[in-house]
Amino acid sequence: MALPAAEALGLDIAEIDQRLADNYSLPTRCYWDPEIFAFEQEAIFAKRWQFMCPINKLANPDDVAVRQVGKYPIVVTRDRNGKLHGFLNICRHRGYTVAEHDQSKCLRLVCRYHTWSYNLDGSLANAPDAEGEAGFDKEALGLLPVAVEQWGPMIMVHPDPGARSFRETNPILMQAAEEAGFKPDMSRYTPVKEIEYEIETNWKLWYDNGTECYHCPNIHGASFGDAFNVAPEDTTIRLEENFSSYTFKGNPNPKANGLSAENYISFQVFPGLVVVLHDDILHMTAMTPLAPGKTRHSTFYFGEEDADPARVEGWVKIWHDTYCEDNVATAIQYNNLKSAGQPYNRYVAGREYAAQHFNAMIWVDYKAALAA
Ligand code: FES
Ligand SMILES: [Fe+2]
Repeated sequence: MALPAAEALGLDIAEIDQRLADNYSLPTRCYWDPEIFAFEQEAIFAKRWQFMCPINKLANPDDVAVRQVGKYPIVVTRDRNGKLHGFLNICRHRGYTVAEHDQSKCLRLVCRYHTWSYNLDGSLANAPDAEGEAGFDKEALGLLPVAVEQWGPMIMVHPDPGARSFRETNPILMQAAEEAGFKPDMSRYTPVKEIEYEIETNWKLWYDNGTECYHCPNIHGASFGDAFNVAPEDTTIRLEENFSSYTFKGNPNPKANGLSAENYISFQVFPGLVVVLHDDILHMTAMTPLAPGKTRHSTFYFGEEDADPARVEGWVKIWHDTYCEDNVATAIQYNNLKSAGQPYNRYVAGREYAAQHFNAMIWVDYKAALAA
């Protein structure tokens, strides 16, 4: 698909290069303009691997999982032979949804509209009253594929079925996960909760917020900032192409919730995956941009086998409170910035260099698409 040129989008490349170098943000118009949002769907989300769901959703043959990934409705299946398949969740007849929710023991994907049905390998199984028609090529009417791959406890998808594999695309991430000992044994974890938020904000404000902890002592004083030691000198942040990784130490004296944990490791994989592992609990988040001012944040929580269930529940509450606090803050920012009164935000590089790192990644994708 042809993308608009920089001038058509009102983006001055040299000026933005300079602003980013001077610790400013992307133009704040990029946070609310619908044309920019449509451009980003093509320039970023159509071109990158993204988190689909945790592996427990697709653990057994005949499991089916659905989710919006970028602008695409996606369905992933595990067929009878145990093989994973990914498809656009769009009926080849007239575009209705072939799977409306996650399922297990699913024999066929049946579109509710006119009941065309598909095998879990995507082939068209039955199209009522159509098969006798001249030129009806059943073989050519299977679901359209996307690429799918497992990384640790996560299923990743890429809208392009010919995309280079996730592992090959992310060698440094593979190495960093190995070095950090990030290899959760999912047989030792139980799914405890899924929480979905639709935040009235732009996805890049979600990124800015989720990659700096400058705000942690302030808005998370009784949640994340109580459970963990958020002093910058005690936090490690690793920034690499496509991802960041964080470690925090537990707060030895948590007052608000009485919970603290060690062995914190998280990965923020661009765009939209966050996975956080520490004592007691593992959780994975998928971010989906739905509109310039609407961002979905879906979190899947897993409790550790031998953890006290009350602690696991306490952690879900702490994380939920933390995310709710973030959601309020980023919705306020979105509302203010879309007034168009302030052209750029100014970062504090010493505290927000990780947010700036993600802005640089976003800008690399913008520039690659604008040059294409
Ligand atoms: S749109 Fe699916 S059967 Fe008609
Ligand atoms: Fe936060």
